[in-house]
Amino acid sequence: MKIDLPGNVCVIGLQWGDEGKGKIVNLLTDPGGPAGQFDLVVRYGGGANAGHSVVVGKEKFAMHLIPSGILSPVATAMITNGVVLDPEVILTEINILHSRSVKVADNLKISDKAHVVFPYHKLQDKLSEERLGNKGIGTTCRGIGPCYSDKASRSHGIRLGELYDRKHFAEKLQAIVNDKNIMFQALYGKGDLDWKAIYDQYCTYADQLKPFVCDTVELLHKSIAQGKRILFEGAQGALLDIDHGTYPYVTSSNSTSAGLSAGTGVPARCVNEFLGIIKAYTTRVGAGPFPTEQSNEVGNYIRERGREYGTTTGRPRRCGWFDAVAVRYSIMIGGIDSLSLMLLDVLSGLDTIKIAVQYKIDGKVLDFFPSDSNLLERAEVVYEELPGWPEEITTATRQEDLPKNAINYLRRLQEVLGCPIKIASVGPERDQTLSLNL
Ligand code: GDP
Ligand code: IMO
Ligand code: MG
Repeated sequence: MKIDLPGNVCVIGLQWGDEGKGKIVNLLTDPGGPAGQFDLVVRYGGGANAGHSVVVGKEKFAMHLIPSGILSPVATAMITNGVVLDPEVILTEINILHSRSVKVADNLKISDKAHVVFPYHKLQDKLSEERLGNKGIGTTCRGIGPCYSDKASRSHGIRLGELYDRKHFAEKLQAIVNDKNIMFQALYGKGDLDWKAIYDQYCTYADQLKPFVCDTVELLHKSIAQGKRILFEGAQGALLDIDHGTYPYVTSSNSTSAGLSAGTGVPARCVNEFLGIIKAYTTRVGAGPFPTEQSNEVGNYIRERGREYGTTTGRPRRCGWFDAVAVRYSIMIGGIDSLSLMLLDVLSGLDTIKIAVQYKIDGKVLDFFPSDSNLLERAEVVYEELPGWPEEITTATRQEDLPKNAINYLRRLQEVLGCPIKIASVGPERDQTLSLNL
């Protein structure tokens, strides 16, 4: 199989995350793989809220911070300034990879400008969600929102590079923890964090991470000048974007392709292809509007067949029909050139498959996705119905192996989305992937 993806490629999720980005990144960074060799694989946004699953034979890996491309024997994996880095999580990931004989040495680079997630960020995330009760966002409680908030505040953010100036780090951390204790006491009636214990722990983490820390902007631009090929591994999905997603039920970073430039220091024009990743249906974890959600036997069928339980939190994912109104919007915002459609195999056995093609809100027909959560909560969905297929398709290796109705479904999706679907995936393994010419 060959997939035509020239130059530098950015993989972007176009729904509410968990589209199968990890599988595609792993496939593309296989040096003998269908798109040729990549020299660098770059995670540029989000943090340990991401969970990218990769299946290689009998082995299953769940990557949270380290790019899925670390499994490539030739690529360098890079975590850039746009990521919020939890040292405890990344060190655990490194240890797990070592125990499974995956090399993590000079093939991992981490930006000195990545902001660091501290225990008070995770605590704040949890306490804030508890306080909001059923009005909560349903975060992963990984401290993502509080860490990005502190980054934007400037006074309370700490970059990884700052941990190597011990005097400066001690003074800054002490002042911040003091403020956090006052805030936690006032809001949640508890505030007894010990700055020195955190300091000691984070100095140990900093020492362990030191061999990987560098100026990733310099390294990226030198690599581009040398003609090296880069794969950018997006995290989350476009509908979770802080600006363009279903605010406030979003994450705290720009998870559409706009996050790439700010998160790496590489201009978007250095990317030759933005590859959008979509599921054959829709899922969402956490709270927020989901117009095509099926809280019924169809949703349960999809959840069980697709094993739709969170990679990071284990939460059952909410499941529903494919939403072409939402994905058209994500394609437009992200400047998406082509698509990879994942988990097509999950839909086998359904008599009828539905695609959301329009919404009706307050009696008005809408083709355009209104990212406003209040409007979306009132959206009635206009569906198109297509016949399903009974056959299992997990052994298909070519487009010709797919049943006629599966091809019809792909063709209709391509038509309503107005973007070529180049790849279809029919199972978690690398070889369960088809190159399409619809
Ligand atoms: P990511 O966050 O976008 O990397 O996606 P996740 O890894 O969180 O969730 C996708 C899940 O679907 C993982 O368990 C993958 O192993 C699995 N997966 C990926 N592609 C396919 C596919 O085509 N078919 C099936 N059945 N599973 C898939
Ligand atoms: P990957 O990269 C799915 C969701 C959370 C919650 C909201 C805010 O695996 O696709 P946060 O912890 O970021 O403050 O939570 O965003 N969320 C994800 N959902 N996949 C992800 O990442 C997600 N990262 C965050 O469930 O609704
Ligand atoms: Mg995931």
